Amino acid sequence: MSNPTNVALTAVYGAMELSDEEFFALTDRSLAPRPSGMLADKLASLGIGPQHHLLDVGCRDAAHTIALVQRFGCTALGIDPVAERIAEGQSAITAAGLDEQMETVVGWIENIPAADASVDFVWCRDMLNHVAELSIGLAECYRVLRPGGRMLVYQTFSTELMEPKEAAFIYNTMGIVPQNQSDAFFEETAQSVGFVIAEKDPITSEWREFWEEDGTRKTSEQLLRIARMRRNRDELIPLLSETHYNIEIADCLWGVYQMVGKLCPTVYVLEKE
Ligand SMILES: C[S@@+](CC[C@H](N)C(=O)[O-])C[C@H]1O[C@@H](n2cnc3c(N)ncnc32)[C@H](O)[C@@H]1O
Repeated sequence: MSNPTNVALTAVYGAMELSDEEFFALTDRSLAPRPSGMLADKLASLGIGPQHHLLDVGCRDAAHTIALVQRFGCTALGIDPVAERIAEGQSAITAAGLDEQMETVVGWIENIPAADASVDFVWCRDMLNHVAELSIGLAECYRVLRPGGRMLVYQTFSTELMEPKEAAFIYNTMGIVPQNQSDAFFEETAQSVGFVIAEKDPITSEWREFWEEDGTRKTSEQLLRIARMRRNRDELIPLLSETHYNIEIADCLWGVYQMVGKLCPTVYVLEKE
């Protein structure tokens, strides 16, 4: 008997060009993914040093800002709209003995509390998705950078594998501006405010693979958490609220989608000539 699925079934269950052992040997080996520390290494390669002033936009609790100041000896300003995170950041700065070198203040990328041309490097990690008027935010970064200054951007974009319903859930739940999920829109906007795109480096799943391979297993844990949260929804929602339940699911999906290619983290170096 023949039916339209015969060919596909032969492909699915018939012999492959490689034995299972050969196939697994090829696909289960590490492709030497880069770790997340490559971002600070990139800043090092741009020549940052003690004579420079760094702006961290969307610094949250300043964990990265503090690590950068400790590594490079530069001065720094961190800004973020969430006052409780800024307060945590300020305590951490004091605990690290860095009050003379850096501070964090409540602030928005759309209205940066810094003078024109007063900053040597802008560090912009994982925050542009939230900026309603990207051109205003990027123009502010351009304004505060000195001529010759550089902006290091880490930003996650959606790929053609992201389905509309998946995108809608993640964007609505996490406060993400849909148009900012396009790398083409980001590049046009950066260039329109005066930046030159000196470098574009798609990270794809590298950091995620690294965390699986080094035993941190961040993405596997997120996958397991999604499964358990879905099965345990009735117990969790009264404890967490529906809003926070969905935020936690979306946050885990963010990691899983990076791993499977629906989201593509990308690093850019932008230059103010
Ligand atoms: C995903 S977190 C990233 C935090 C940190 N940069 C990091 O990489 O760990 C995004 C941060 O951007 C901040 N943020 C959102 N909108 C912002 C805006 N308009 N201006 C400055 N920061 C903003 C949020 O409050 C949050 O702390």
